[in-house]
Amino acid sequence: MCGIVGFTSDEPAAPVLLRGLKCLEYRGYDSAGIATICNGQLNCGKDVGKLDEVCTNHNLIGLVGNTGIGHVRWATHGGVTMENAHPHCDCKQEIAVVHNGIIDNYEELRAELRSEHCFKSQTDTEIVAHLLEEYVEEGLSLEAAMRKVVRRIRGTYSIAAISVREPGRLVATRKDGPLVVGRDGNRKFIASDALAFMEHTHDVAYVEDGDIVVLDEDIVFTNEDGAAVDRAFKTIDWRWDEPTKQGYDYYMMKEITETPDAIRCALEQDKDLILDMAMNILRAKQVVFTACGTSRYAALVGRYLFSRLAGKFCDVIMGSEFHYFSDSVDKNTLVIAISQSGETADVIQGVKKARENGATIFSMINMIGSSIARMSDRSIYLNCGPEIGVAATKSFMSQLAILYLLAFTMANRMDEGIQKVRDVCDTIEGVIETNGLRVERIAGLTKHNNSCYYIARGINFAIAAEGALKLKEISYIHAEGMPAGELKHGTLALIEKGTPVVVICPKDYTFEETLANAAETKARGAFVIGVSEENHAMFDEWIEIHATEEIFYPLVTVVPLQLLAYYSAVARGNDPDRPRNLAKSVTVK
Ligand code: G6P
Repeated sequence: MCGIVGFTSDEPAAPVLLRGLKCLEYRGYDSAGIATICNGQLNCGKDVGKLDEVCTNHNLIGLVGNTGIGHVRWATHGGVTMENAHPHCDCKQEIAVVHNGIIDNYEELRAELRSEHCFKSQTDTEIVAHLLEEYVEEGLSLEAAMRKVVRRIRGTYSIAAISVREPGRLVATRKDGPLVVGRDGNRKFIASDALAFMEHTHDVAYVEDGDIVVLDEDIVFTNEDGAAVDRAFKTIDWRWDEPTKQGYDYYMMKEITETPDAIRCALEQDKDLILDMAMNILRAKQVVFTACGTSRYAALVGRYLFSRLAGKFCDVIMGSEFHYFSDSVDKNTLVIAISQSGETADVIQGVKKARENGATIFSMINMIGSSIARMSDRSIYLNCGPEIGVAATKSFMSQLAILYLLAFTMANRMDEGIQKVRDVCDTIEGVIETNGLRVERIAGLTKHNNSCYYIARGINFAIAAEGALKLKEISYIHAEGMPAGELKHGTLALIEKGTPVVVICPKDYTFEETLANAAETKARGAFVIGVSEENHAMFDEWIEIHATEEIFYPLVTVVPLQLLAYYSAVARGNDPDRPRNLAKSVTVK
């Protein structure tokens, strides 16, 4: 989703801004642009398309100036057009603004400003440029103008602005949007994601809601009233690896193959922290997981594990719905937020509301220092490194690893749990190897189908749902995953001759019943793809998995389903790393 960068120093800004935007590309975007200031002039270049294309077509690298801002846009208000790309400027081309988020009252403000200002785009963002212009014209500094803007706008945002009247200065603010500042001597950075400047510095400070931060020779934080606030700089301990595909065609395949390492790294946790969290979960009157997308399916596996291993029932509520349940959330509630990015707006909203109601917040996050991590009473990091493919793969496995760790600890069997997950992990490399060619062939057979269904029982229901999500995200084939027993309550009506049905049926206590549901689809002409350790006459195609204990099947069944989605996407000519319309970090509601 939208990404912001800003840079000021005594060296050319454009190369640093473009490198920063490159690092944010993975979040998903449709247009890009930068603006710099030089000799009292604002230079701006932007367009729809990939960053490299925009850069070449508009010679962005040639925009001179030592201070600048940049943006990759994921459209919310207004279509994907050059005019709607950021930065947005005021009427006089003196001020440039980039924004991530949504300004809820932009229509009302636009109506107010329309008679005096010339709007060039359909975006909510442009009103910020014109409001700043109004206030600067009144004689305010850019900082004071931004403070006044913040009083006028409602919504969620991270905003950065520059003005030719104040060269060498960046002004930024945020509310419920990510924003982090970095410094390296006289080089000052701001971005919606520290990854954007991680190759330059690890010395960062997080901008808090309502802060106005000014970057010039210094970095000064003030609050809404203009009073100085102290935002401590700290070193983030994140090794920066240039994202490269290392010989793979796509990041997604690279990341699937990194799964065993991701699991091993996730198991490397502070044992006291895990013990403390496990005890708190056991003691809590009610425990609720909240998450979105793939992370929510990890939570569903977690719910099962907590129940099966520790007899602790929990609920799972998707991020976007959680705040509607706030009447039942109080100080006796323990919320476990799961999020790879730690910036998913829907999860943040639910967590905020829960905190206000007195709930305790635990989280499982990959991005160090992200908003959700900072809002939590306790946070466990996944430690799987940056995940570039929009569709989550290795981070899902890391989330599962931590959920096993917690569940076994709740059952007072931490070391046994760690050992068992490690043992299963060793077999995952085999799953990728054994199934690569076979799954690629199956994807070739099903690539022209319009719909695909995934069924499973018990702990693997979440894997059926995740398999279907992966397929629809990147291959654009309609897919649904459901508990096998639920099939006959509606979806069976959609099964026709040749409809692919992926049946996850390891040889555990769900095997026979799941197979009976598969038979119901087969009787109606379904093309049954079985995921099991043994082949069966029912299967038209068989994806082999390693036998393991019932609770560990998710770790081995999900990998071939990630591969099936990947090969389906490739067979249909799609880029699995950057699915259309989707974003990696969903920072708007
Ligand atoms: C987006 C991504 C998904 C991800 C979901 C939740 O939709 O495309 O891959 O599962 O957000 O993201 P989170 O960062 O909160 O885990």
